[in-house]
Amino acid sequence: MNLHTLLLNKFSAALVAIGAPENSPAPLSRATKVGFGDYQFNGAMALAKVLKQKPRDIAEKIVEAVELDGIAEKLEVAGPGFINIYLSKAWLAAQLSEAAADTRLNIEAQPSKTVVVDYSSPNLAKEMHVGHLRTTIIGDAVVKALEFMGHKVIRQNHMGDWGTQFGMLLAHLNDKLESNQVAETALSDLEDFYREAKVRFDEEEGFADRAREYVVKLQGGDSHCLALWQNFIDVSITHSEEVYHKLNVSLTRDDIMGESAYNHDLANVVNELQAKGLAVESQGAQVVFLPELADKEGNPAAYIVQKSGGGYLYATTDLAAIRHRNKQLHADRTLILTDARQALHFKQTELVARKAGFIEPEQTYEHCPFGMMLGNDGRPFKTRTGGTVKLVELLDEAVERAEALLSKRETDLSSDELKVLANKIGIGAVKYADLSKNRTTDYMFSWDSMLSFEGNTAPYLQYAYTRVMSIFRKAGVDHQTLNAPISLDAPQEKILAVKQLQYVEAINQVIAEGTPHVLCTYLYELASLFMSFYEACPMLKDGIEQDVRDSRMTLAALTAKTLQSGLSLLGIDTMERM
Ligand code: ARG
Repeated sequence: MNLHTLLLNKFSAALVAIGAPENSPAPLSRATKVGFGDYQFNGAMALAKVLKQKPRDIAEKIVEAVELDGIAEKLEVAGPGFINIYLSKAWLAAQLSEAAADTRLNIEAQPSKTVVVDYSSPNLAKEMHVGHLRTTIIGDAVVKALEFMGHKVIRQNHMGDWGTQFGMLLAHLNDKLESNQVAETALSDLEDFYREAKVRFDEEEGFADRAREYVVKLQGGDSHCLALWQNFIDVSITHSEEVYHKLNVSLTRDDIMGESAYNHDLANVVNELQAKGLAVESQGAQVVFLPELADKEGNPAAYIVQKSGGGYLYATTDLAAIRHRNKQLHADRTLILTDARQALHFKQTELVARKAGFIEPEQTYEHCPFGMMLGNDGRPFKTRTGGTVKLVELLDEAVERAEALLSKRETDLSSDELKVLANKIGIGAVKYADLSKNRTTDYMFSWDSMLSFEGNTAPYLQYAYTRVMSIFRKAGVDHQTLNAPISLDAPQEKILAVKQLQYVEAINQVIAEGTPHVLCTYLYELASLFMSFYEACPMLKDGIEQDVRDSRMTLAALTAKTLQSGLSLLGIDTMERM
């Protein structure tokens, strides 16, 4: 059940009934203040001009016409023509009971679409660094929300496993293997390996030429070079998998569709662009000129699809990927998560692809950009010595810090239990700190605030969950089967109930806009409302009547279920105690 949609439909019908033109705006919002009801409908003001009537009179007519019997207990016209909607407690309670009885919390799946999500996509020449954290976890949260709502998601890990830098890496690997090293050892630290290869490339006589030769050979399908490449890629993918495992994200090897997978198709892409008169020769290169994206002087943007030496680019591969996703995978939507600096590239790519017919008009191509992760000095997040921070090391530090925090507390947990807990809290904190920020802006990475048990943090939400669990433990109740009749008597209960029913709206917004922070905000509000409810409506005190207690417990169980469901969509674990 979607509360917002339900009310919206009722009001839209009422507008038709009072003679408003079709598709008149129907602005429905949540009440912003206690005492204004639960929702507010503000359609009367805009209609005043159209219908040539006073807004208050129109509001009265809408109230008369809207069919909310049993759903709302009161509708009141306020101010110039606002309609305040007070939902019926009995109706809300009935909705909650249905949610409590259903594993999906009574949330209906949407009509299924095929959605390609391109995320994580690290460059395999180097190790995953903090720059890949955001794409990986935001992407994974969006993917999980899409799947929860019934969509067919095709994950595409567009790994950077091709390109000229592999020449230098393969030449270096070749030499190491010849001196009897095994690939796993030689590549145990990809950063070091890259640095060594780069030094040789810059300084060693003849090495750069060999590196270039290797690229040509690799692209020509030479079996020795391909074997070296495969070796390198395998080890590098294993490094990424270690990160995925630690991060608890759902990407597997089957989701990898790296740049190399499109290699065979790049010539076709360029040919097709030429045949359609889109790509033309310019200084030996193949270029698509885009007058739509001209600079101030009116020069069209030049989108290069083949370099003068014949080499292909990142852009060519993206065009091939689009064609594959739309023609073979039949994507209704494609979402791509990268940092905001690539925004222009994707804008141009979409334009070219649409002109070439690689994207059908009804198919979408949605670049979801995100800002940077900053250190507490407000500059891009770096190690103390100014290097890039390896993601593995960052995650390990998170777990260590969580462990240190936990061991300061008095607890009867064994050290093994503590380790499991530290992992869930540490990783959850890093992920949530990122997910809870609007992705379009930069954010400051701070261990202290992300690991705090107060405020909009993972530990706070995990703690709220364990708090509910402890109630059931103390009461000796099985929360899974708890489904007593609910009555919403205290104002804290009603607010919590309405919030409860808005869960689906948060998920829908996450999947429409690729913005997991909306779900984070929702869960934080839910947990905060639960805490107020918990204070105002005790469950374990002596003298509370059985049916009141059971009603409150059912509401608490439902909150826990929603918290757990929401956190699991974000890829964050909950635990029974902490
Ligand atoms: N490998 C790229 C990077 O690390 C991201 C690729 C994103 N996906 C794409 N289709 N271009 O910046």
